[in-house]
Amino acid sequence: MSSYRTNDIKLHFTDEGQGEPIVLVHGFALSAAMWQPQRAVLSQHYRVIAVDLRGFGSSDAPTGTMSMDTYADDIAALLDVLGIGQATFGGLSMGGYVVMAFLRRHLERVKAVMLLDTRMTADTAAGRQARDEMIMLAHEHGMKGVAEAMLPTMLTPATIAGCPALAEHVCELMQGASLPGVVRALEALRERPDSVGTLKGLTIPALVLTGSDDELTPPADGRAMAALLAKGEFFEIPHAAHLAPMEQPSAVNAHLMRFLGQRLG
Ligand code: MLT
Repeated sequence: MSSYRTNDIKLHFTDEGQGEPIVLVHGFALSAAMWQPQRAVLSQHYRVIAVDLRGFGSSDAPTGTMSMDTYADDIAALLDVLGIGQATFGGLSMGGYVVMAFLRRHLERVKAVMLLDTRMTADTAAGRQARDEMIMLAHEHGMKGVAEAMLPTMLTPATIAGCPALAEHVCELMQGASLPGVVRALEALRERPDSVGTLKGLTIPALVLTGSDDELTPPADGRAMAALLAKGEFFEIPHAAHLAPMEQPSAVNAHLMRFLGQRLG
């Protein structure tokens, strides 16, 4: 893992393989480690960069308030450091919201996008309230409490029962997040804007994937995003909940490799 410093915060990232750059952005409370199954396969053909967003994984905790724009600008700064002008971006859930912020702020740097288990709409009133409840839970029970509350939405019941090692790994990754990182992220999630206007008519190639059993960002959300995108394609990943790339890595990798092969060569 390498690191770079931006706005007085040290951010960690992985940088593997050679060729067309692919940037992977993790979901809430996780880290670049969630992409391990994708990094292993994609880096045989492409240069794969996966970043720990500020407050997550091995990156420093944030000191002030943040928005999805903060994360997006951190990634733009990383690409500057690495001398990368344009890249293809993949984001899961909150990582998808960060990619959408990146599209608003740095569109010229985006060659194609891969949006996994995410959505384009802002939080509803109930969703905003749930963020506040999760902030309270984080203060009262720490990351262990957050991880335990989130696990049932992350993986299918069959995987949680049949593959306890994966469930434990997901919990461990979430528990690696810092309390300020999680609280600031929940505030940023709560305040994030609607991205419908960002995706509507966007002409860059876009792949949208969603786990068939994802209740947090259901397949209907993914389908709606793909329908708005001029070059959007949508696929459902069977037997997967919110963390489709971790739960069904082979199926997800097959889609990513096909899409990248067609779009990047
Ligand atoms: C995530 O997985 O990044 C979050 O659950 C996204 C969300 O809650 O909107």
